[in-house]
Amino acid sequence: ELGGYAHFMQKEIFEQPESLRNTLRGRLMRDEGDARLNGLQLTDEEIRSFDRVLILGCGTSWHSALVGRHFIETLAGLPVDVEYASEFRYQRPLPLKNTLAVAVSQSGETADTLEAMKAARERGARVVGVVNAVGSSIAREAHGGIYLHAGPEVGVASTKAFTSQLAALLLLGLHLGRRRSLTVEQGREVVEAMAALPAMIEQTLKLDDELARIALTFSEASNALYLGRGVSFPVALEGALKLKEVSYAHAEGYPAAELKHGPIALIDDDMPVIVVAPADHIFSKVVSNVQEVRARGGQILVITTEGNRDLSAVADREVAVPATHELLSPLLTVVPLQLLAYHIAVLRGCDVDRPRNLAKSVTVE
Ligand code: M6R
Repeated sequence: ELGGYAHFMQKEIFEQPESLRNTLRGRLMRDEGDARLNGLQLTDEEIRSFDRVLILGCGTSWHSALVGRHFIETLAGLPVDVEYASEFRYQRPLPLKNTLAVAVSQSGETADTLEAMKAARERGARVVGVVNAVGSSIAREAHGGIYLHAGPEVGVASTKAFTSQLAALLLLGLHLGRRRSLTVEQGREVVEAMAALPAMIEQTLKLDDELARIALTFSEASNALYLGRGVSFPVALEGALKLKEVSYAHAEGYPAAELKHGPIALIDDDMPVIVVAPADHIFSKVVSNVQEVRARGGQILVITTEGNRDLSAVADREVAVPATHELLSPLLTVVPLQLLAYHIAVLRGCDVDRPRNLAKSVTVE
């Protein structure tokens, strides 16, 4: 079952080139620069009638939603709100006119997400699902949607579902965008970049040995900070969640510039600080944020892009992922964070696939 891997989490991390290919299969329209999403069940007219998008989810799926906000705002030009499903369901019931609500869930059985999507529908939103488990409650409750086809995810820590959720949300952004104001050329650029991602994840997985070595230096720390900005901020949140879940170390994700508003007080010589800093339009700002950490100690690991400028002056360690379209970097930068959390958990002797107190799907409130 484990096919030579020690744990399901490890197997599922390494399956990502394949799971991503499965999510993309038959959906990328190269000539048209478009995404084929027949299951969405939305007419072009309906798509043009939306004036906002609301994405709902919990845990890792909420992190995907936060990245998805950037995808949809950039590609479709629609304002996007992201809510924790558990919070949204008890909010004051304001009407949701002309709203596309998107429920993101790997299992399709998360109680809070299921109830939140019902609440969104009652308020007037059109609700679609981004779901992995075929025929699950959330898939059935949705008007239409996008299945991930990532295959069963067994490890309690979500890994391959996250990258497939990002791919599905990109497809959604592309599909909505092409029916609104995204040009064929702009669409083609995204399609080409997406088509190249599975091979780039394969490439990124080669960092495994290096991350296993880096894990040795972090394995005894009881705290860690993860930083990122823009699309990389939710990746930082996801990296911190992975570490907390499987290694029981306390970790926090922050937008890098928020550090000086409080959390920088935590930095001392032993604090591991993991910075998600791909070469994008905000990179130089992130470097200045890292310099602020550097000046106060901190063991800094930077996840950046191959061929980016030399970071040895600001980072103790650095790993680089292949260069892609700047919007797509989260699908690559998250992989080293998954590997790092995995190796740290193994070194700490934790039950990686069944962390204490956690269930694979949370079907109670
Ligand atoms: O099945 P879902 O995507 O709805 O699950 C949501 C969360 O419970 C889930 O992502 C949880 O946070 C994972 N353990 C994260 O690794």
